[in-house]
Amino acid sequence: MGAPLIYTEPDLMADHLYSRPLEAVGHRLHGGFDAAGDYQSPRTLVRWPAVRAWQEALVSRGWPLIDASRSLLAMGNFPNVAQQRLLLKWGCGQTLWNALTVTGVVEARGRMLAQIVAPDFQTIIEEDLTSTTVGHLGKGLLKAHGFDEGGVPESGVGGHDTMWFAVRDLLFGKDAFPMPEVPPSLARPQTGRLLPMIDAPFEALIVMMMNVLMIEIRAESFFSFCLQVMRDPESFGDRPQAAEQAAVMVERIRADEQIHVAYLQTALSELRSFTFLTLDGRRLPGKMLLDPLWEGFVRWHSVDTLEHNRAQTRAAIEVTLSQLPQAQEKLRAFVELDAA
Ligand SMILES: [Fe+2]
Ligand SMILES: [Fe+2]
Repeated sequence: MGAPLIYTEPDLMADHLYSRPLEAVGHRLHGGFDAAGDYQSPRTLVRWPAVRAWQEALVSRGWPLIDASRSLLAMGNFPNVAQQRLLLKWGCGQTLWNALTVTGVVEARGRMLAQIVAPDFQTIIEEDLTSTTVGHLGKGLLKAHGFDEGGVPESGVGGHDTMWFAVRDLLFGKDAFPMPEVPPSLARPQTGRLLPMIDAPFEALIVMMMNVLMIEIRAESFFSFCLQVMRDPESFGDRPQAAEQAAVMVERIRADEQIHVAYLQTALSELRSFTFLTLDGRRLPGKMLLDPLWEGFVRWHSVDTLEHNRAQTRAAIEVTLSQLPQAQEKLRAFVELDAA
């Protein structure tokens, strides 16, 4: 017999027993270390085995997990690692500072996930949801996710927002640059209904999960960029200890994010396996509703918005470089590394 498939909210919110909490640059942070000294992500004692059990149950019903790997992304981080190295060498740390600050602010917004009241999918789905990820969205999965991203303010324990600010402050020191402009949302802009055959709250939750899953996948690309830059002796060789501390913090955030990818991937994969009862009384296979929608979200997050962001970042970097001595040569050297 496999792992159980039915859990309560306290189960899914349960932490490991930590022998030492996670702390950095004066912040008390979520997660902690087990007796062996290994970092354990917050609220994953039961959440991980639960998600794995739901994944196995789905696969044993003959349904695959949708692809949620980085291979969905058409392009890597911009600037790339080689370009970032040049920028840091020329004393232009501001783009990295901005990227880390924006990431922290966006993570803080993720706390709204903890406030979501999930609509009851059982009212529009034919199959029994008791033993599924979808059946547990409102039983701790969204709440745990929100707390992971934005912390639990009343407890004084910081989440990913605080962790990214700690990374930034370790690398550059606090207040090294002014606060950058933060985009209002990373989600695909929406005008009008996308799934008019079901009630709006269900559509909203599906759309939110698709947006957040793609944002998590995009974050994975930023993690690997960060780790390479922070461990590059040419970039932070003058402060290797602080840079290594920052890199380790990024690794912890990255470890925490894996459960987010896993449960969202599982919930969306389950939804496409179910039969939806539509407003006009039809029975529609979930994959008919979800697959074209998911394709659109993947395309927008992996190509459209990345191209747009790339153009904006490039313009900002060009302005910065134009103010340096030997601006033309620097700009040329930077552009030559585009394909690196
Ligand atoms: Fe996060
Ligand atoms: Fe996340």
